Amino acid sequence: MRIVCIGGGPAGLYFGLLMKKENPAHHVTVVERNKPYDTFGWGVVFSDATMENMRAWDPETAQEIESAFNHWDDIEVLIKGKRMRTTGHGFVGIGRKKLLNILQARCEALGVELVFNREVDSDLEFPDADLIIASDGVNSKIRNRYREAFKPDLIMRPNRFIWLGTNKSYDAFTFDFRRTEHGWFQAHIYKFDESTSTFIIETTEDVFQAHGLDTADEARSVEFCEELFSEILDGAKLMSNARHLRGSAWLNFGRLICGKWSHFNGKNHVVLMGDAAHTAHFAIGSGTKLALEDAIELTRQFRKFGATPDNIPDVLAAYEEVRAVDVARIQNAARNAMEWFEVVGSRYADTLEPEQFMYSLLTRSQRISHENLRVRDKVWLEDYERWFAARAGINVDPDGPPVPPMFTPYRVRGLTLQNRIVMSPMAMYSADDGLPNDFHLVHFGSRALGGAGLLFSEMTCVSPDARITPGCLGLWNDEQVSAWKRIVDFVHATTSTKFGLQLGHAGRKGSTRVAWEGIDQPLEADNWPLISASALPYMANSQVPHAMTRADMERVKADFVAATKRGIEVGFDIIELHCAHGYLLSSFLSPLTNHRTDEYGGSHENNARYPLEVFRAIREVWPDDKPISVRLSCHDWTEGGNTPADAAIYAKMFKEAGADLVDCSSGQVSKEEKPVYGRLFQTPFSDKLRNEVGIATVAVGAISEADHANSIIAAGRADLCALARPHLADTAWTLHEAAKIGVKSIAWPKQYLSAKTQYETNLARAAAGPQPS
Ligand SMILES: Cc1cc2nc3c(=O)[nH]c(=O)nc-3n(C[C@H](O)[C@H](O)[C@H](O)COP(=O)(O)OP(=O)(O)OC[C@H]3O[C@@H](n4cnc5c(N)ncnc54)[C@H](O)[C@@H]3O)c2cc1C
Ligand SMILES: Cc1cc2nc3c(=O)[nH]c(=O)nc-3n(C[C@H](O)[C@H](O)[C@H](O)COP(=O)(O)O)c2cc1C
Repeated sequence: MRIVCIGGGPAGLYFGLLMKKENPAHHVTVVERNKPYDTFGWGVVFSDATMENMRAWDPETAQEIESAFNHWDDIEVLIKGKRMRTTGHGFVGIGRKKLLNILQARCEALGVELVFNREVDSDLEFPDADLIIASDGVNSKIRNRYREAFKPDLIMRPNRFIWLGTNKSYDAFTFDFRRTEHGWFQAHIYKFDESTSTFIIETTEDVFQAHGLDTADEARSVEFCEELFSEILDGAKLMSNARHLRGSAWLNFGRLICGKWSHFNGKNHVVLMGDAAHTAHFAIGSGTKLALEDAIELTRQFRKFGATPDNIPDVLAAYEEVRAVDVARIQNAARNAMEWFEVVGSRYADTLEPEQFMYSLLTRSQRISHENLRVRDKVWLEDYERWFAARAGINVDPDGPPVPPMFTPYRVRGLTLQNRIVMSPMAMYSADDGLPNDFHLVHFGSRALGGAGLLFSEMTCVSPDARITPGCLGLWNDEQVSAWKRIVDFVHATTSTKFGLQLGHAGRKGSTRVAWEGIDQPLEADNWPLISASALPYMANSQVPHAMTRADMERVKADFVAATKRGIEVGFDIIELHCAHGYLLSSFLSPLTNHRTDEYGGSHENNARYPLEVFRAIREVWPDDKPISVRLSCHDWTEGGNTPADAAIYAKMFKEAGADLVDCSSGQVSKEEKPVYGRLFQTPFSDKLRNEVGIATVAVGAISEADHANSIIAAGRADLCALARPHLADTAWTLHEAAKIGVKSIAWPKQYLSAKTQYETNLARAAAGPQPS
């Protein structure tokens, strides 16, 4: 086959040498616009997994690369006068120039034709090629030529960065955060040979401009950075790499995804590889890895199908199918890490204490969890757990086993929770006339015995017409007070678990069937009239509500106040006002459901006016030493609906009105929603609200292991973790998870104590694997 690689970066060179090695009869040419052995850039980092892959495909290059590698384990973080270090993180770094020189030399040895100093304008310059590799980097001319076919989606990210180097060797991957009068800058520093380190400096656009860096020339930029990072530079100079744009100017990172990776131009097959096909932010240092792994995968597919021109279409389809999945996974992790650095100044640097800031930094991609950190650096993690526990008010024994973050107590107003686990509100549709019964006693009682710090009632309705279904619980009469009191008293008398009351009104989502008879479907008979912010039905076949009048508002507010007073009588420890999921108060907050033109609609202030009025009314009667939480839909997942930025505005308003916590849920406001589910999928909303608005939060949604909860709480992404479905599956979720992570100090109910040791021993045995008989 005749193969031409346009662009002699890692992708083009490595693919060229692999194919030539597969079959020396292939004619392989790599065309590069730069001079031989002349390249830009400083150091790049790799993981051990990439090296292993390279070792399998070409041991010669792998060996050369390995002997030129610099390996280091430590990460050091500098912020606000503190210097902190952790180990066990295992990176290898190599100079980009060194890497390319090794690949170039190997290409030459194998007989790949290397053409330098040639700028390629079009793939049509190579009419005889069977296959053209567009490995011409992120600004690929070839990809842009066929933009219709490749469908590139390039998003320029808001931060500015400059890629510099320094002749100083750092023995750890170093992150240095510096505040100026205008805001924060961060440096990502890692050595790549005995005497040289990469030094990438990053900041936000507004800080960049406030310092006049948009009009500064290269020398001035370098001088500015040297001054700002003088402490860590310790007399060393920063160097730019003026021969290439990437090394000499402040840039924005472009995140690239392509809809398709290959195209037949009428004569030749053209396929994208490396940065021409996709980019991954330097925050997780994987661009070179992706480029090399693309080259390996395409070679693997040629080996599988047979390297002949006839097989090219099948090979290219298989290559794209395999690589697209891997690339998406890396891009996902890179996105989390990149976004962390975009908001670090506004969200974490000023607010988190250095210790917690470092934890948040280490877990920024959300691929590294609490238990991963324990494997990497047990001593550091246990010190952090002790630091966290002491901050939570635990008398820490420096020699005893540390208490993981989820098992630390949490105090808000006069309420102290024994741990950070909350049973999330869950409608059970099992009441008659809103009256709790034996099902509810057993349902809540068993979860309290199961160790959660706090139970929330299901949405408890403030009047009969506030119910979602005829099976919903209520708190509008004295009989309900007594029935609730029986349950809450049982929980208080038998366990240390606290009990919260979620109060709500169904609004336009009321008068429907119980879940198992058709969720959200209108009742077949005995419907009651509905109210909402506006006269808009939830679904096409839903009852049309009437837009609330001022008289309706007064009546409903009075119902909320009366239910709150009954909640005091019952002895609930905390109230949660349900302002989420499209129910009545939520219908005011979302522009999708609030089309009002009076003072209750049209702006954030107007949308929040009635929910805040209700909040203030219940806050007035609810005891001062008891907290109130507000549940918000932080994302409507629908075009034109609320986003986390809107949720932050509402959270701030509730905070100013006296709310203690925001429970960060999302969705269920519109049937058009397109939520993006996944592990911990709503935790970013909690993180945003907690750290930007400065209000305590509850994270909820697809949190299912102790490791998740510990990671969230330890990083300060939430104060509490609520779990719904895991509590339906396992009444003793908290006790079981404690045992799974080896925490023995959690109290089991005294009646169940004899099971504790056996359970722990069985888990330890299972973890140790099969034993010889
Ligand atoms: C600040 C920064 C830090 C980074 N740090 C890391 C890291 O630590 N680890 C990591 O793995 N990755 C890192 N990367 C990413 C890495 O540099 C790229 O992902 C990687 O180089 C992609 O390889 P490639 O071969 O696809 O493209 P490139 O390396 O961009 O190579 C493309 C080549 O094509 C040539 N070319 C372009 N157009 C033409 C043309 N028309 N004619 C002829 N030749 C042409 C170019 O001169 C270049 O040599 C970083 C990137 C940046 C910006
Ligand atoms: C059966 C069931 C009933 C629910 N009822 C309520 C409710 O009454 N009030 C509420 O705010 N959320 C309710 N939810 C949402 C949960 O509180 C929680 O936010 C959601 O299930 C995500 O958490 P999970 O992934 O841990 O299940 C309910 C969820 C389930 C599964």
